[in-house]
Amino acid sequence: MNFTIMAQEKTIDQKVDSLLKLMTLEEKVGQMNQYNGFWDITGPAPKEGNAAEKYEHLKKGWVGSMLNVTGTEEVRKLQKMVVEESRLGIPLIFGFDVIHGYKTLAPIPLAEAASWDMEAIEKSARIAADEASAVGLNWTFAPMVDISHDARWGRVMEGGGEDPYLGAQIAKARVNGFQGTDLSQNNTIAACAKHFAAYGFAEAGKEYNTVDIGTSTLYNMVFPPFKAAVEADVKTVMNGFNLLNGVPVTGDKNLQRNILKGTWGFDGFIISDWSSIGEMVPHGYAADLKHAAELGALAGSDMDMESYAYVTHLADNVREGKVDESILDEAVGRILRVKFELGLFDDPYRYCNPEREKSRLYHEDHQSGVLEMAQKSMVLLKNEGGLLPLKKNQPKIAVIGELANDNNSPLGSWRLGSDDNTAVTVLDGLKKYTQNLTYAKGPKVFNEDANFLNEVQVNETDRSGISEAVELAQSSDVVIMVLGEHGFQSGEARSRTKLGLPGLQLDLLKAVHKVNKNIVLVLMNGRPLTINWEAENVPAILEAWQLGSQTGNAIAKVLFGDYNPSGKLPMTFPRSVGQVPIYYNHYSTGRANEVPIVFWTHYSDEKNEPLFPFGYGLSYTTFGYSDLAIDSSNQSKIKVSATITNTGKVAGEEVVQLYIHDKVASVTRPVKELKGFQKIGLAPNESKRVEFVLTNKELGFYNHQYEFVVEPGEFGVMVGTSSGEGLIDSFVKK
Ligand code: BGC
Repeated sequence: MNFTIMAQEKTIDQKVDSLLKLMTLEEKVGQMNQYNGFWDITGPAPKEGNAAEKYEHLKKGWVGSMLNVTGTEEVRKLQKMVVEESRLGIPLIFGFDVIHGYKTLAPIPLAEAASWDMEAIEKSARIAADEASAVGLNWTFAPMVDISHDARWGRVMEGGGEDPYLGAQIAKARVNGFQGTDLSQNNTIAACAKHFAAYGFAEAGKEYNTVDIGTSTLYNMVFPPFKAAVEADVKTVMNGFNLLNGVPVTGDKNLQRNILKGTWGFDGFIISDWSSIGEMVPHGYAADLKHAAELGALAGSDMDMESYAYVTHLADNVREGKVDESILDEAVGRILRVKFELGLFDDPYRYCNPEREKSRLYHEDHQSGVLEMAQKSMVLLKNEGGLLPLKKNQPKIAVIGELANDNNSPLGSWRLGSDDNTAVTVLDGLKKYTQNLTYAKGPKVFNEDANFLNEVQVNETDRSGISEAVELAQSSDVVIMVLGEHGFQSGEARSRTKLGLPGLQLDLLKAVHKVNKNIVLVLMNGRPLTINWEAENVPAILEAWQLGSQTGNAIAKVLFGDYNPSGKLPMTFPRSVGQVPIYYNHYSTGRANEVPIVFWTHYSDEKNEPLFPFGYGLSYTTFGYSDLAIDSSNQSKIKVSATITNTGKVAGEEVVQLYIHDKVASVTRPVKELKGFQKIGLAPNESKRVEFVLTNKELGFYNHQYEFVVEPGEFGVMVGTSSGEGLIDSFVKK
C-alpha cells in the first residue's frame, strides 16, 4: 500500500484529496462499484463466469464495496486480496441488510416502532451493529425510513409506519444505534437511510410501482425521516427502484444533488438500490446501460449496486466528455471519507476478529435485549372483561394455530444473516408458565419450506385439523389462538390485495368461537390487517407482529401479566382494503361532514373510520387525561400540558401523544399531526403532569415554493391516548 504520502496529512479531507490524486480513472470508477458476493469465497478462486470476473476486478482495484459477504474469514480473505494485490490497496467496505439484527433478531422494524420507545429502538440497533460488526461487516442497509400509508405494500414491515414525526424520531434512534458515537470502533457500523425517496408511496401498494405525489406530500410526509437521519450524521443513503413524478429516483438530480447533498448538506455517499441504475433502461428513462451510467453519475448516485453500469461504462462516459471527471472525484471522495471514518485505512481487518465473532453472536445480553424490545413492541388491541392477563394457575388452556408452534415465521422476512428455525415458539414460551396446556395445530396454513425468494403457498382447501381444534377448545377454559401472516408474506416483493387472515384461519377462529368464546387472539403479522370479525367477536386481541428470536418468551410474559403491554399502533388498521391508503393525518375535503343526502365524503358500503387508529393501544390498566392547559405567552415556546392518571389497578406505561391542527394555511394542513409524545410509567392512582413545548419547528411546514413557513392563525391541539381520542383546545399563533 503506497500511503506514505498520507502519513503527513492531518485531516480526513486532506487524506482523501491526496489519495484521489494517485488514482487512475478506472480506479475511481472502481470505488463507485459494488458487487454481490455469491461464490464460496473461502474455496478455490473461481475459474469462470461472473464470479471469476468479479475476482479479477477485485484484484485490479475496480471494486469499492462488496455486499452479502459475511464471516471474518470470508471478509478477511477478500480484504487481504484487495489490500495486498490491487495497486493502491484501498480497503473494501462490506455492506449487508442488517435490518433488525444479524443472528439474534429483534422484532421487525414496524413492531419496534409500536414501542414508541426511542431508547429501546436505539439499543436494538446497537445490538444489531455489535453482531454484524463481529462478522466483518461495517455497513448496514438500514434503517428503511420510508413512510407509507398503504398496508398492501409488503415493505411496511421494514419501516417506522405512517407518520413523519414518529418516523423522524425512529430514524434518528436507529442511526445513532448503528453508528454509535465513534464510527472507528470495531463494534459500530455505517448506517444507510433508504430509499430516497418516496418508495413507500408505490401506487396501489404494488412493489416497485410508480410514485406520483405532490410537493406537500414529498416535503412534509416523505422527507422528514430522511432529514432527521442526515441530521443524525447518517453516513450513507440509498436511492430506490421507483419513479417519482416521472423520473427514476436513481437518476433524479434534484433529489440527490440539490436537496440531499445541497440543501441538507449530506456529506456521506449515495448507494443505488440493487441494479436500480440499470433499471432506468426498462423504466424508459435511459436508452441503454451506458446512458444509465451517465444519468446515474450526473444525478449524484455515487455507488452502483450490482448493475455493472459504472464498471462497464463510466470511464468511457468520462473519456467521451459526457461525464466530467470532477463528478467522479466528488463521489469517490465521499466514499473514501466514510472508509477513513470507519478506520479501514488504519486497519482494514478491524472487523475481522474471529474471537470476537465467536463471543458476540447470539450473546446472552443480546437475547435479553431483544426480549425486552419484543415486550415493548406488542399492542393490546382489545381486552374485554379483563380476560388478560391470564392467571398463572389458569385451569385448562388450549393453544391453537400453526403459528403457535412455528419457530421460523416469527423471525420475519429480512433475516439473511440469521439461522432459520431459531425463534422461541409461543408454545414453548407458554410452557414456561404452565404445563396445563394442550396444543392443536388446526388446518395447515403455510408451506413448510417458505423462504425469502419464493411466494408463500397458502392452503385454502384442506380443512383437516379444524374439528380436532374445535374439540380441544370445547374442553378448555381459555383458548389462545395464534393466527396471522407468515414472516415471508411481508417484506420486499410481498404486496397483497387481501389483508385478512390468510387461508382457513378465520374459518378456524369462527368454528372455535362457536364452542368457546373465551378466546385470546395473538396476531402475528408484518402489516396492518383487516380483522373486523375478530375485533367484533373475540374478547382479547394482542398484536404481536413478528417479534424475532425471543418471540414466545415475550408473548408469554405479556399474556401472563409479567409485562404490561404499552405499545401503540404506528400504522392505521383499516376496516377494508378499499379504504387503503388510510392514515390519520389526512386532509379535510370540502364536504367532510355528514349530511342527510349522499353528497359528502364517505363510502356507500363502509365507514370512514379505521378499525384501529394510529397511536392506539390498550394496557392492563387504564389512564385518565385531565386539565389540558396551553400557555402561549412565549410565542416561540408554546407550552401544552395535561395530567395523566393511572386509574386502574396495576402499574403501567402510557404513550401520551400531542397532535396539532393548523386550521387555515396557504397550503392546507392535515386534520391532525403528531408533534410530540412521551412514554411515562405510572403506579396505580399516580398522576403526572406531562408538558410539551411547541416551537416553530413543530408549527411550520413546507409550502409549494419549498420554503419552510410558520403562518399565524389558530392551531387546534389534542393531547390524548391515540390519534382518535384526547383532550382538545386551541391557541393563536401571532
Ligand atoms: C432492496 C434494498 C436492499 C438491497 C440489498 C434491494 O432489493 O430494495 O433495500 O438493501 O436489495 O440487499
